[in-house]
Amino acid sequence: MGALSLKDLHIHYDRQPVVQDFSLDIGDGEMVALLGPSGAGKTTILKVVAGLLAPARGEVIIDGQVVNDRPPEKRDAVMVFQKPLLFPFMNVNQNIAFGLKMRGDDAARRSRAVERILALTRLAGLGPRKVHELSGGQQQRVALARALVLEPAILLMDEPLSNLDANLRQEMRELILTVQSELNITTLFVTHDQAEALMMSQRVALLLEGRLRQVGSPRDLFHRPADPEVARFFGGGNFFRGRLHEGHFECDFGRLPVTAADGNGHLRTATIRPEDIQLATAPVDLPDSFAGTVVRTRFEGMATRAWIRCPFGELVVLTAESALAPGQSVRLRLPPDKIRVFSEASSSE
Ligand SMILES: Nc1ncnc2c1ncn2[C@@H]1O[C@H](COP(=O)(O)OP(=O)(O)O)[C@@H](O)[C@H]1O
Ligand SMILES: [Mg+2]
Repeated sequence: MGALSLKDLHIHYDRQPVVQDFSLDIGDGEMVALLGPSGAGKTTILKVVAGLLAPARGEVIIDGQVVNDRPPEKRDAVMVFQKPLLFPFMNVNQNIAFGLKMRGDDAARRSRAVERILALTRLAGLGPRKVHELSGGQQQRVALARALVLEPAILLMDEPLSNLDANLRQEMRELILTVQSELNITTLFVTHDQAEALMMSQRVALLLEGRLRQVGSPRDLFHRPADPEVARFFGGGNFFRGRLHEGHFECDFGRLPVTAADGNGHLRTATIRPEDIQLATAPVDLPDSFAGTVVRTRFEGMATRAWIRCPFGELVVLTAESALAPGQSVRLRLPPDKIRVFSEASSSE
């Protein structure tokens, strides 16, 4: 067990800065998702924590000790990669026991530890199997077992589910969550998938272009994004400007009561999530609403996404109403409690 603290990391490749000013504290037993698009620098950060890459500046602190000068095997942090990377000539037992053998554990101890971890990762009975006799999901479970058997202080997972098909991915998510909470192991879980980050972690750290943009609970990032870019990353599509005035946001859509703090008179950007906009096909259904015309729609299974032209611009709405057609007139309402006004003054003020 141990806490992980990253302090002011700057990481370069060939003098090119890739990660800048990165600080993050992960509590003992906590699971944090490091989320970001491809190329954001997620793997780079994991490598620095694991000791596979040295930062240009900053500290990696595990359990209160600065470990920058320690080689990977002395850090008590293990990494699970996107691909299982198992030894093909060894069976499951041997793959899992490999690290224990390197460490000098005796045979009896190794086999006890392996049995326990096989059960935990739902691989019981598969110990004698060869790697090529396993499915992709089983191979990834062996990779997880191989990391967990070492009982590391810190578990680092680099998009471990991205090579699995959708059903299997869901199953593996549940398994990782169960195992993580059972072993209470401090975990940094990397993903580019926002839904996965939200469901897999106690806190989410969003990385965009090598910079940490927001850290918080999954609900915080989803419902209270720090700025428009974070909101956009989480699927927000509606941005509009207005001025705060006496507890109201005055914009083209009306004078909307909001709970934003001070900033009277300042030009601000606000957002509302597509699923939070109320839509009705009959005017009587919706008080305080305004008119719009459907431009196009896309059926997404559980909901339909509709682009609606309003007198003041276009809004994207996610609605259960599935029979919308282009050209159709609708009424929209923006519930004031769903509007988020960003605290930064709008850039073009
Ligand atoms: N070995 C390397 N040499 C030079 N540039 C690299 C190397 N590895 C990654 N990069 C670059 O660093 C950036 C971050 O990469 P990476 O950490 O792999 O991103 P992510 O894991 O978030 O997709 C990317 O622009 C990538 O092209
Ligand atoms: Mg990566």
